[in-house]
Amino acid sequence: MSVTSSDSAAYSGALEGSNAKRGLWSSRLAFILAATGSAVGLGNIWKFPYVTGENGGGAFVLVYLLCIAVVGIPIMMAEVMIGRRGGCSPVKSLSLIAERDRLNSAWKLVGAVGILAGFLILSFYSVIGGWAISYVGTTASGQLAGQSAEAVGAIFSGLLSDPTTLLAWHTLFMALVMVVVARGVRSGLERAVSILMPALFVLLLIVVGYAMTTGHFGQAAAFLFQPDFSKLTTSGILVALGHAFFTLSLGMAVMMAYGSYLPKNISIAKTSMAVSVIDTGVALLAGLAIFPIVFANGLEPGAGPGLIFQTLPLAFGQMPMGSLFGTLFFVLLIFAAWTSGISLLEPIVEWLEERKGMNRTVSTLGAGIVCWALGIASILSLNLWSDFAPLGFVPMLEGKTIFDLLDFFTANIMLPLGGLLVALFAGWVMSRQAMERELSLSPAMFNLWLITVRFVTPVAVAVVFIYNLM
Ligand code: PHE
Repeated sequence: MSVTSSDSAAYSGALEGSNAKRGLWSSRLAFILAATGSAVGLGNIWKFPYVTGENGGGAFVLVYLLCIAVVGIPIMMAEVMIGRRGGCSPVKSLSLIAERDRLNSAWKLVGAVGILAGFLILSFYSVIGGWAISYVGTTASGQLAGQSAEAVGAIFSGLLSDPTTLLAWHTLFMALVMVVVARGVRSGLERAVSILMPALFVLLLIVVGYAMTTGHFGQAAAFLFQPDFSKLTTSGILVALGHAFFTLSLGMAVMMAYGSYLPKNISIAKTSMAVSVIDTGVALLAGLAIFPIVFANGLEPGAGPGLIFQTLPLAFGQMPMGSLFGTLFFVLLIFAAWTSGISLLEPIVEWLEERKGMNRTVSTLGAGIVCWALGIASILSLNLWSDFAPLGFVPMLEGKTIFDLLDFFTANIMLPLGGLLVALFAGWVMSRQAMERELSLSPAMFNLWLITVRFVTPVAVAVVFIYNLM
């Protein structure tokens, strides 16, 4: 991480027993960059458009935005706050705070849920990262130029039906993640975020510009922003909530880990807000880039996880300099996925180091290889095992492959559950005084935040869970 190791004096508020010699982010910007690197990833560009398409558009987007504002931002603040207060790895931070405030150390479970969720998410995330790698070659070779929607669709189906190629790209993606995590220092990477994220943003704008010329931009904007509540289902609400956690990297203690490096004088509220706004902006732009192409080509908005790979290549095949823009776009997408992937692997590696006394290289190799092996199940779900629905006897999980199940359980169950525990911990367990000091908000804002994490978030998560179980 991009931290300065010298300045531990600024960290005088660290709890006893925490590792106060840990470095700190060199600036507020460094933290924002790292947190944005984790938040902005495949969730924004791959997942947001396809879950929006599957769930009928506008009303889903509205619920998602509400979840970001009412649940996501307050929880992000809580996570960063807990991390900074504890001053070490999430599991240790929670138990330190719990011990000092004589609280039940069962709260470390929050960290444990997070570690497991990150590990499971990375197993399929890396497979999708592999798709992006594969599309760099597809675009660069110029084979998309002037292609029809059918031909572009066939290229994608060809990729999915080929386990060996998928495995090769999945392996490469996982290796990229492991190399950085094993080395432990990624200041270079975080600095790169400050150049490459804006570049990704610009490329998205270019695709949006192209999308405007398709003649279907208005229809796409209406699809995204005109809520039609008849299309909203209870499971859609669960997906929106789960996606709010997924896209902001919440509920698995990532922001807690990053918060532990945040200097005391930096506003947690402002930084959390900044990260959330950037993340949401990227997702909405991706939606505006993709849906005009969907409608212009008579494609199905609910086409599922392949949506961006069936639409964006069409745009790159048709726009001027499309091969260049397309190649750049997929390279930047890989980068965005890479920085997120790192933050998914980091918690388990940190835990193995701290708890099992393994060194960083060994823990990275161990966790990475097991995660990679699990990814093979997701790869096979796309072809040889595409009809295999292990939990198909549960009505809600009918037809879900292993890949679908991993996505469903992590994003829609584990992350909101982790977030719920964080909200309960901050809202009901931590000392109010400590939190006031950490957040340094005006009394009115502090109370608003406290009411949200005490009542609004837990009730919202519980209601959505219960409705979906019924
Ligand atoms: N937020 C990342 C994305 O949108 C995924 C992620 C989830 C990363 C949870 C870390 C933790 O792609």
